[in-house]
Amino acid sequence: MFNKNFLWGASTSAYQVEGAWNEDGKEPSVQDVRQVPKDTTDFKVAADHYHHWQEDVALFKELGLTAYRFSISWSRVMPNGKVNPKGVAFYSQLIDELKKNGIEPIVTVFHFDLPASLKEVGGWGNRQTIDAFATYCHFLFDTFGDRVTYWQTINEQNMLTLAGKLLSGNQKSWKDIFQENHHMLVAQAKVMGIYHDGGYPGKIGPAPNICAVYPATSSAEDQLAADYMSAFRNWLYLDAAVYGIYNVQALEVLRSLDAEPEITEEDRKMMKENTCDYVAFNYYNTACAKANPVSGTTEQGDQQKGLTVAGYFASAENPTLPKTEFGWTIDPVGLRVTAHQIYSRYHLPMLITENGLGGRDVLEEDGTIHDNYRIDYLRDHIVELKKCVDEGLPFIGYCPWSAIDVISTHEGMRKRYGFIYVNRSDFDLKDLKRYKKDSFYWYQTVISSNGQTV
Ligand code: BG6
Repeated sequence: MFNKNFLWGASTSAYQVEGAWNEDGKEPSVQDVRQVPKDTTDFKVAADHYHHWQEDVALFKELGLTAYRFSISWSRVMPNGKVNPKGVAFYSQLIDELKKNGIEPIVTVFHFDLPASLKEVGGWGNRQTIDAFATYCHFLFDTFGDRVTYWQTINEQNMLTLAGKLLSGNQKSWKDIFQENHHMLVAQAKVMGIYHDGGYPGKIGPAPNICAVYPATSSAEDQLAADYMSAFRNWLYLDAAVYGIYNVQALEVLRSLDAEPEITEEDRKMMKENTCDYVAFNYYNTACAKANPVSGTTEQGDQQKGLTVAGYFASAENPTLPKTEFGWTIDPVGLRVTAHQIYSRYHLPMLITENGLGGRDVLEEDGTIHDNYRIDYLRDHIVELKKCVDEGLPFIGYCPWSAIDVISTHEGMRKRYGFIYVNRSDFDLKDLKRYKKDSFYWYQTVISSNGQTV
């Protein structure tokens, strides 16, 4: 049984939902200056939540959400390093409106949207970004810390890192990528320290994308490959956040890629002394690994395809799992496997900050959207989550992705996740009107029954 304080939420991120990318003093973020697919309508308008936030919160209330996980745009609040009062006012109003409606605000401070001016001077490769991040977060804690209980530092740092080479158009070496990653780990530790030292009343944690990695066969070699992949993909990030250390197996893979970061004594101290209060994680699917000889390939995919490293592991197909129309495997029981792995390693409360199915929804002439595939996906995951809770795992809440349709990270608007449909396409902004999908009514029942009716 879910306890009565269990948070039933839903998630979004700033650049994927807000729009208003250049309004009210906002500086462009790296997302605003990136190339989008040719001929598509402006992705920067997103769901135009910046101009619809009151209507959206009213819909969240009607949905019955008791939590809303969103991210704050660094470049809106602190463009070019200076506080922007209009940006601060936007989030302040949003937080107040959520609280007025009985919805707990869950805040991620950084979700893939570094201010463009920081990228110009080297982004996370420049150690000064650590201090800029600390200044930004300190300001957020001082400004919103009395109203926000659950904070997350960096969304999916592991996916950002593993996609780093692709995102740089192969310009960066693995060494560059993992030095940036190291700076993010230090930055995270630093802001967790600021949060704890400041005596703010809530909790702070990381929000990586974590998934169990299965061996492709029952051979010891494939099991070892799965262990290495999991260390590299999952535990590197959580061992750092929870214990302030580098995972040994992950470090070994880094050495093989000639990508071991330079770590100063102060960095080690910073990481060791400043760790997290809880583990937030995003879960979409599981991974599968097979042994990879030293002569094998090293290549990068997305969170579905994973990563292949010569000498350690190669991504493998898992023939036991069905796939979404976008080719992502669906593995509800894998959520249970993953949650047990996390809890056995860290013994901290957990919060699911993303879980969901991206699909091509169709708006019918009568304004309905029949997304039964999404209901099936979420139901099956909630059933497994309930088993986790019954088995004694401490979960703070569940925030599926996404509260409302947002721009997908690399599939634009055609791949939707929301409970609320936004009337626009990749090629036409239309009227951006909101419609409730079938999953909206279904999740409403789940929430009102505290997870008893799924
Ligand atoms: C997570 C991200 O990787 O997965 C979200 O935190 C993202 O920002 C979500 O939208 C789904 O991925 P995609 O590529 O389908 O949008």
